Amino acid sequence: MTQNKDLHFKTREVHAGVEPDPTTGAILTPIYQATTYVQDSVDDYLSKGFSYSRSGNPTVVALEDRITALEGGVGTVCFSTGMAATSAVMMAMLNAGEHAVLSDVVYGGTHRLSTRVLSRFGVEYSFVDTSDAQNVRNAIKENTRLIFTETPANPTLKLTDIAAVSDIAREHGIPHCVDNTFLTPYFQRPLELGADFSMHSTTKYIDGHNVTVGGSVTVTTSENLEAVQFVRNCLGSNMSPMVAFFTLQGCKTLSTRLEAQSANAMKIAQFLESHPMAERVAYPGLASFPQRELAEKQASGFGAMLWFEVKGGVESGKKLMDTLQLWSLAENLGSVESLVTHSVTMTHADMDPAERQRVGITDGLVRLSVGLEDPDDLIADLSQALDRL
Ligand SMILES: Cc1ncc(COP(=O)(O)O)c(C=O)c1O
Repeated sequence: MTQNKDLHFKTREVHAGVEPDPTTGAILTPIYQATTYVQDSVDDYLSKGFSYSRSGNPTVVALEDRITALEGGVGTVCFSTGMAATSAVMMAMLNAGEHAVLSDVVYGGTHRLSTRVLSRFGVEYSFVDTSDAQNVRNAIKENTRLIFTETPANPTLKLTDIAAVSDIAREHGIPHCVDNTFLTPYFQRPLELGADFSMHSTTKYIDGHNVTVGGSVTVTTSENLEAVQFVRNCLGSNMSPMVAFFTLQGCKTLSTRLEAQSANAMKIAQFLESHPMAERVAYPGLASFPQRELAEKQASGFGAMLWFEVKGGVESGKKLMDTLQLWSLAENLGSVESLVTHSVTMTHADMDPAERQRVGITDGLVRLSVGLEDPDDLIADLSQALDRL
């Protein structure tokens, strides 16, 4: 019943993957905190589906089924972190001597994984401006085996046309993976738009409460499901049952949180646009956002991430972040608590400064992850900090 695709999103996010516990009737799938699973006989090995918790765990499977019910596709693999999820896709799809095309604006950790780890194992990368799908086509080489885009991208919110890039990918027989962390399946479903993988840092909106770090990859074929599961089992980068349990509870309110948080984000973006100390404000819901049309075409909401620059450059930006009281200066995003991040010194510190500038991650960029607090309080706090500059 709980995987019934005819049920609405809001029902699936509460129920999918979970049935009352068969022995006790507990309404929540328990935390199966066990390393190993006793087998009935040698001949019946794996008859209950589990052998060892690195290979699979019932609480984690409940979350995997929930995410599949939200993203679409044939199955999901959950990981210890979002970075473990990204690593698994890359390691499953790429061999030494092969090439991947990536968005030039991606989470700093994805950039670091490609340029400083997998490159040492002979994988070649091109970072291109995927906001123009033709750049993806032009970057494809004989040995290209993966296209990896992040949209909206962290932190500039640059968008990639998922359907257009997926068409190009399919034409060349190359899988397309989308990092869907910023919008979640409630607002954007990459697999329905033609992508082959949709991945998440579940640490962000899927958990939503700053409780866990985790990751997921949802796929469209059983071959890719097996390939990603195989890498996870080899690396031992699976999600723990406790994390899966917390995430199963947090994601029940995904749509409600996103609706409220994105409404707050719109109000805050409009406030900032009217404030004389805020220079450039970027939020996909604003009429001034350069890719607003694409945002409306491929997603059903604008999300709760935005950024702006303060007049007076980096020094003013730092002062603002230190003066805010309700907004926490922190690395994460997507939680019910509102957070402010200085991307250059925090999330994208390892990127080459010239490359950072080139792709628009400027020194004065102040990234806001808008939470669930009353928007008037969030605006009042921003207002007092801006007025002090
Ligand atoms: C868009 C995006 N993808 C992936 C990650 C990596 O996720 P995690 O921190 O859970 O490893 C992050 C983390 O900030 C992110 O923002």
